[in-house]
Amino acid sequence: MGAFDKVYDSWKAEPEKFWLDQAKAIDWDVAPTRAFDPDQGVYGRWFPDAMGNTCYNCVDRHVENGRGDDVAIIHESAITETRATLTFAELQRETEKLAGVLLDRGVKAGDRVIIYMPMVMEAAVAMLACARIGAVHSVVFGGFAAAELATRIDDCRPDIILSASCGLEPGRVVAYKPLLDSALEIADHKITKTLILQRSQQICDLADDRDEDWAEAIAAQADRQVPCTSMAATDPLYILYTSGTTGQPKGVIRDTGGHMVALHWTMKNIYGVEPGETYWAASDVGWVVGHSYIVYAPLLAGNTTIVFEGKPVGTPDAATFWRVMARHEVAVFFTAPTAFRAVRAQDPDGALVKDHNLSNLRTVFLAGERADPDTIHWIEHVTGKPVIDHWWQTETGWTIAGNPTGIEMLDVKYGSPARAMPGYDVQVLDDAGAPVAAGTLGNVAVKLPLPPGALPTLWNADARFRSAYLEEFPGYYQTSDAGMVDEDGYLFIMARTDDIINVAGHRLSTGGMEEAVAEHPDVAECAVIGVADEMKGQVPLGFVILNAGADERLDTIEAEVVAHVRNKIGPVAALKTVVPVKRLPKTRSGKILRATMVKVAQKEDVAIPATIDDPAILDEIREALAVRKI
Ligand code: COA
Ligand code: AMP
Repeated sequence: MGAFDKVYDSWKAEPEKFWLDQAKAIDWDVAPTRAFDPDQGVYGRWFPDAMGNTCYNCVDRHVENGRGDDVAIIHESAITETRATLTFAELQRETEKLAGVLLDRGVKAGDRVIIYMPMVMEAAVAMLACARIGAVHSVVFGGFAAAELATRIDDCRPDIILSASCGLEPGRVVAYKPLLDSALEIADHKITKTLILQRSQQICDLADDRDEDWAEAIAAQADRQVPCTSMAATDPLYILYTSGTTGQPKGVIRDTGGHMVALHWTMKNIYGVEPGETYWAASDVGWVVGHSYIVYAPLLAGNTTIVFEGKPVGTPDAATFWRVMARHEVAVFFTAPTAFRAVRAQDPDGALVKDHNLSNLRTVFLAGERADPDTIHWIEHVTGKPVIDHWWQTETGWTIAGNPTGIEMLDVKYGSPARAMPGYDVQVLDDAGAPVAAGTLGNVAVKLPLPPGALPTLWNADARFRSAYLEEFPGYYQTSDAGMVDEDGYLFIMARTDDIINVAGHRLSTGGMEEAVAEHPDVAECAVIGVADEMKGQVPLGFVILNAGADERLDTIEAEVVAHVRNKIGPVAALKTVVPVKRLPKTRSGKILRATMVKVAQKEDVAIPATIDDPAILDEIREALAVRKI
């Protein structure tokens, strides 16, 4: 039996003992005496009697253990070509000052704070400052527009919003403040306080009665000391909104105790890093990868983490990844496959790798979308390092299936994120909920309870949590991914079973985009689907039925629809093409056959669905796509 099998079996035999053992790596105010209470919450709660603080475990305890002078965070901007560092001791001071600012403005444990910021050091400090005082942060990705921000404001009802004057995208400055102002106008929940970080690239106006200058507020806290508030392990640490099947995003809750225990376990066992080494997740704090692997996990484990502002290409070139890895002696690197596809498109032979010393790099990890074998082979070839795919979701916060390199490097099967991790009993079910045989495609589900760190429920929405995740297969969490497990226990994740698409590693709702498209006055009906794209994995493609008489304005309408989706959801929505059609293929009961449309658009063989109202519509769709040369 291999080393990993032993660990997995030890979890399966005694799950509570397994997690209580892992909990010893955390410094608690009140240590847990039991791991799990099945009677609390929707499906049970982890560490029901423990108390502690996440910021203490990420920051203060390393200072107390003599590591105050070690670097905690490196900020590296490939756009401004600047870098800065904070040691653990400096990070402690900075979180205390910002926590003091929040406390003075009336924020207390349990209150919500929205963080709408670009990839600056202060974004990470803001998350930790909230954690320090037990405030619940909700980071909103900078690529989302005002209406998306407003939806989140109304859902989590924050006391204060922390933001910045601008973000920096290659070749353009993104003014955040007008987006924030407009979100505050749209939202029903009224905000009276904001704190704005002025960036020199674009200073913004501050409203006298509402907006405060970040630097001034911090300067007034020079000697402020703010102890870490002791929180129940079951208290929420943060809310992170993720796409659901409608325009109303789901507020995934992360708790305090289970999150610390699970994330800490992953650093050594999955990523194979030791405290003090540099770990770099090239993502954004607006996504779950940023929460778990830019901020919390590396700091919990005492690693140096990198907050990176830039893109894999164009800032300034396709060598950025290699340059930053060499400069900071990165031991483990983590990004989405799409980022490497972008690098490969510009440097197909990996010529730029050779100019950089990657001797510290041990492993490259990929997640966020399916890792296509071709991209994995390419990274292996140009770096000479192992490339590990791992599969997880915003909801779980850490790996469901992966290759536990710190326990045992399992054989790689290309196209598979390898095996279920301890905590996850992954099963593939047919539509009736019965387990299927090895090698058979079905619905990928996780037997309840979910492990520590995974969501206990959705913010203020237990009923939605149950209906979205728990009801279809009683006793299981439904991942909404389709896939199979082979005879060796390797999982293969093939596609989403819902209307979520994955564009450049960003998770987006086609339902949300349809809501925006349908708002155009000339659109009678619409459908948005995700079609395969060589670089981004998928891109959205819209189909519209126009109101009578609107045909002659087609070009303008397309531009208006594209602009409206961008303005409403944000530039990341990336809907660029809208195809006019006369009818949409539907079932006899009126459900749009989106999966069939995807096959048509991807020019795959289409089995005519038995329930289709009129198969001739598929030919009309083919013709409409051909007219647009798609
Ligand atoms: N603030 C404002 N705008 C943003 C933004 C942000 N934080 N992030 C992205 N955008 C904008 C981009 O500027 C772009 O605008 P444009 O249409 O005017 O060019 C648009 O949103 C789409 O961005 P993106 O999907 O990132 O495409 P891209 O062509 O700019 O870059 C990649 C493509 C592959 C290089 C890039 O998506 C990437 O690095 N992906 C990695 C994904 C990742 O880290 N995912 C997290 C999970 S690990
Ligand atoms: P997110 O919540 O943004 O992390 O997106 C989660 C979804 O992305 C999953 O449900 C999958 O559909 C997809 N995904 C993430 N990682 C992988 C992976 N390694 N392989 C296949 N799909 C993945």
